[in-house]
Amino acid sequence: MEITAFYTYFLLLLICFNCQGCLEEERDALLKIKASFNSPDPGAFSNWYVQECCQWEGVECDPSTNRISKIFFHYWRDRSLPDLWYPNATLFAQFKDLQELELPGNQIGGFISPHAFIKLKRLRKLNLHDNSIHNGSNLWWGKFPSIYSVDLSYNKFTTDGLCSRKFPFLYSLDLSGNKLDGNIPECLCDNRFFKELILSDNNLHGSIGSCLGNMVSLKHLDLSSNQFNDSFPSMLISNLTSIDSLILSRNEFKGMISLSIFANLSRLRCLDISYNHLEVETESPSWSPSFNLNVLHLSGCDLKNIPSFLSTQHHLLSLDLSYNLLIGNISWMLCNVTSELRLRGNNLSGSFPRTFQNISSQLTVLDISDNFLHGPLPKDIDLNFPRLRFLNVSMNSFNSNLPQSLGSQILRELDLSNNQFQGEIPYSMTRNMTSLEYLRLSGNNLRGDALPKNSSLPKIRWLYLNKNYFSGTFPDTLGKSMDLEIVDIRRNSLSGELSLYLPVLPQLRALLLGGNRFDGQIPLQVCQMRDLQLLDISRNSLSGEIPDCVGNITSWTDSSYRVYLLNDHRSSFDIIINGFSVTLQALNFDFMGIDVSFNRLTGKIPVQMTRLKMIHFLNMSNNLLTGQIRSPFGNLANLESLDLSHNNLFGGLPLELTTLEFLALFNVSFNNLSGMIPVVAQFGTFTSDSYLGNPGLCGLPVGRQCAETAPVYLSAETSVFLFTDTATGYTLLFWCVIFFLY
Ligand SMILES: *[C@@H]1O[C@H](CO)[C@@H](O)[C@H](O)[C@H]1NC(C)=O
Ligand SMILES: *[C@@H]1O[C@H](CO)[C@@H](O)[C@H](O)[C@H]1NC(C)=O
Ligand SMILES: *[C@@H]1O[C@H](CO)[C@@H](O)[C@H](O)[C@H]1NC(C)=O
Ligand SMILES: *[C@@H]1O[C@H](CO)[C@@H](O)[C@H](O)[C@H]1NC(C)=O
Ligand SMILES: *[C@@H]1O[C@H](CO)[C@@H](O)[C@H](O)[C@H]1NC(C)=O
Ligand SMILES: *[C@@H]1O[C@H](CO)[C@@H](O)[C@H](O)[C@H]1NC(C)=O
Ligand SMILES: *[C@@H]1O[C@H](CO)[C@@H](O)[C@H](O)[C@H]1NC(C)=O
Ligand SMILES: *[C@@H]1O[C@H](CO)[C@@H](O)[C@H](O)[C@H]1NC(C)=O
Ligand SMILES: *[C@@H]1O[C@H](CO)[C@@H](O)[C@H](O)[C@H]1NC(C)=O
Ligand SMILES: *[C@@H]1O[C@H](CO)[C@@H](O)[C@H](O)[C@H]1NC(C)=O
Ligand SMILES: *[C@@H]1O[C@H](CO)[C@@H](O)[C@H](O)[C@H]1NC(C)=O
Ligand SMILES: *[C@@H]1O[C@H](CO)[C@@H](O)[C@H](O)[C@H]1NC(C)=O
Repeated sequence: MEITAFYTYFLLLLICFNCQGCLEEERDALLKIKASFNSPDPGAFSNWYVQECCQWEGVECDPSTNRISKIFFHYWRDRSLPDLWYPNATLFAQFKDLQELELPGNQIGGFISPHAFIKLKRLRKLNLHDNSIHNGSNLWWGKFPSIYSVDLSYNKFTTDGLCSRKFPFLYSLDLSGNKLDGNIPECLCDNRFFKELILSDNNLHGSIGSCLGNMVSLKHLDLSSNQFNDSFPSMLISNLTSIDSLILSRNEFKGMISLSIFANLSRLRCLDISYNHLEVETESPSWSPSFNLNVLHLSGCDLKNIPSFLSTQHHLLSLDLSYNLLIGNISWMLCNVTSELRLRGNNLSGSFPRTFQNISSQLTVLDISDNFLHGPLPKDIDLNFPRLRFLNVSMNSFNSNLPQSLGSQILRELDLSNNQFQGEIPYSMTRNMTSLEYLRLSGNNLRGDALPKNSSLPKIRWLYLNKNYFSGTFPDTLGKSMDLEIVDIRRNSLSGELSLYLPVLPQLRALLLGGNRFDGQIPLQVCQMRDLQLLDISRNSLSGEIPDCVGNITSWTDSSYRVYLLNDHRSSFDIIINGFSVTLQALNFDFMGIDVSFNRLTGKIPVQMTRLKMIHFLNMSNNLLTGQIRSPFGNLANLESLDLSHNNLFGGLPLELTTLEFLALFNVSFNNLSGMIPVVAQFGTFTSDSYLGNPGLCGLPVGRQCAETAPVYLSAETSVFLFTDTATGYTLLFWCVIFFLY
């Protein structure tokens, strides 16, 4: 054993004696760069202890010279470090044969001694994507004769800072996601070498004609998500004879154009002019394409008909014609698009084509939502669409039972909401959906169990089953779905003791169970869901006291608590706030709240609830709560809406409530409150409706004069100065609240 080890070592020694290691000065420079990183991510530099630096992670040597030719430190710097990194360019200048330098995602704010880059005579490719560089002078453009590809996307460049140097020989430049505004920066114009120019996701506007006129070599042009607001540059575009990918979507180009302007661009493979203010004519003047497209996106282009030239396109991978005025049926496109088909928001009608029944499609994405389609979904949808990952048929009039075969194991998102589907969810569907993350069945006529027993949805994150006729208990089969973030089963007929069936779902952000028939107490499981932002258990038959442990829910109590934002369109649902129905586009911190209204809750409001200073709305109305409204309610500083109406509360209104500066809705009607109503701050805006049915309350809003002896509720933290305005007979209250921070 030991002898073998010895020989291996000897052999290695021999080999290494023969091979030249990396150069000493380059090794030094690498170590200095490492040192200047300041506490790198522990995963980075993992093998930087071996002698031979050509083998170090993140570098590559030219085998003939043993000089370093590539450096790629991708997202190595620890993102939590507060300061930006300003590496000394002189260190990089040591690598005389460096051809590729890739430093994306390292919080670089700029370079010290940037002119040192001039020594990198062989640099071809520079990638500084996703850093924080804002000053063009921090890079030494001028003398890079060899460089051809520069990626500066997602930095902080402004138009001003950018053009301190020219970009003369570049083939490829990516400046997407910066802060460029105004016209396309001068220094980018008229570059005959550009093959690839990406300026998407900035604030550019004006016209592009004069700048791009001479870019005869362009193959890939992406100006999407800016504010270009001129008429569409048709003439210019017909001149871009080398173009293969043209992306001008999400701008403000105006006017009427004919697709015939693209007719002679024979190399065009990818065309996206979606979401401008264009009226796109597809048929006249009559034309025939010389191109064969893979990708065509014409969303929001005012198309009246399915373009007839599509029948010449045999290689369409992705077709998006959403939000047009298309009429007719979907047969042709289902058969002839091979990967992604989006037809959302048109006037398409008819049933799911029957001729399609024996065909197997390669589609991975199918969105035919928001049309006028009806009838059943294909019985063998899994065989017809064996590769489907995303299916959205929402907002049509499909009206059959759910197909037994819908439970594909690769399906990730399934939206069947707002149709007239009926019957039960087939067990075959939810038995083993191992990839499903999103399921929306809302607004149908489904009945039976909300999820069949023994369903398995291990990856589900968004579950919307609201507005159906589901019955039975809470689907405890969800106890295995630990990634759940939103559960919405509102407005069904579920029943049973909620606390017996509700599992602890540690990632849950919204638990929406309002409008069912659950009974028993509020489940303590809720308190262990510490990221909870929205709780709606209103309109059930819950009884007992509100548990103290609600104070354990960190997202409601701790302002420094930062769960990542669910800034995702999949977290979208309707909710009633301040009496209005609002569609939350994405759940965020402004929508923290609790609705336990219309139950049979008893006892006092636990004082722990006054710790929930992050919540924005609180509705405890229509219960049997007793006790007083305590002064610490004034701690709920973010509260916009507080409804305590229709309970058995008594005592006065604590003055601390008047410190709630965002309060827009306040309702304590139909309790047993008494004493003087404060009328300062937000409380000057509430009318008598807020106080109805409390014979003991007096003051301006209810038009009932307070007796001199009416109790005024003060607390130790507050000093109040009271004046009586005898002219009106009303008591006016001027106050000064002094907070004692503790
Ligand atoms: C950059 O590095 C070079 C060489 O190590 C050194 O001479 C120079 O002083 C450094 N510049 C700054 C500003 O630290
Ligand atoms: C950019 O950097 C140059 C040289 O380092 C400096 O002179 C200039 O003031 C900087 N500009 C801005 C806007 O910070
Ligand atoms: C384009 O937008 C800019 C900035 O909003 C405005 O000044 C300009 O007049 C607009 N041009 C056209 C043709 O609408
Ligand atoms: C298109 O190209 C022709 C010939 O190269 C040129 O004369 C014309 O000005 C160009 N048109 C535009 C709008 O750039
Ligand atoms: C396309 O080429 C044909 C034949 O060369 C020509 O007649 C037509 O005008 C061209 N169309 C456009 C839009 O340039
Ligand atoms: C469209 O699909 C049908 C049926 O598969 C086929 O016969 C036809 O040739 C296809 N058309 C094109 C343009 O690919
Ligand atoms: C599309 O449908 C809407 C709603 O039914 C209707 O108002 C509109 O006239 C239709 N448009 C066309 C072009 O058929
Ligand atoms: C779809 O439309 C085509 C022609 O417009 C027609 O031949 C076909 O029968 C229609 N298919 C269905 C399912 O309605
Ligand atoms: C589909 O296949 C079934 C048997 O697999 C056959 O009976 C039926 O005729 C086929 N339908 C079409 C439209 O080809
Ligand atoms: C499905 O389509 C509807 C209507 O177009 C849309 O509101 C919903 O967000 C879509 N679902 C998904 C998962 O994209
Ligand atoms: C569920 O599907 C996976 C593949 O995605 C498979 O390995 C597993 O055996 C299936 N489980 C059951 C119970 O069918
Ligand atoms: C709430 O937190 C307290 C103190 O940390 C703990 O004793 C209690 O068990 C928690 N309650 C629940 C239901 O998690």
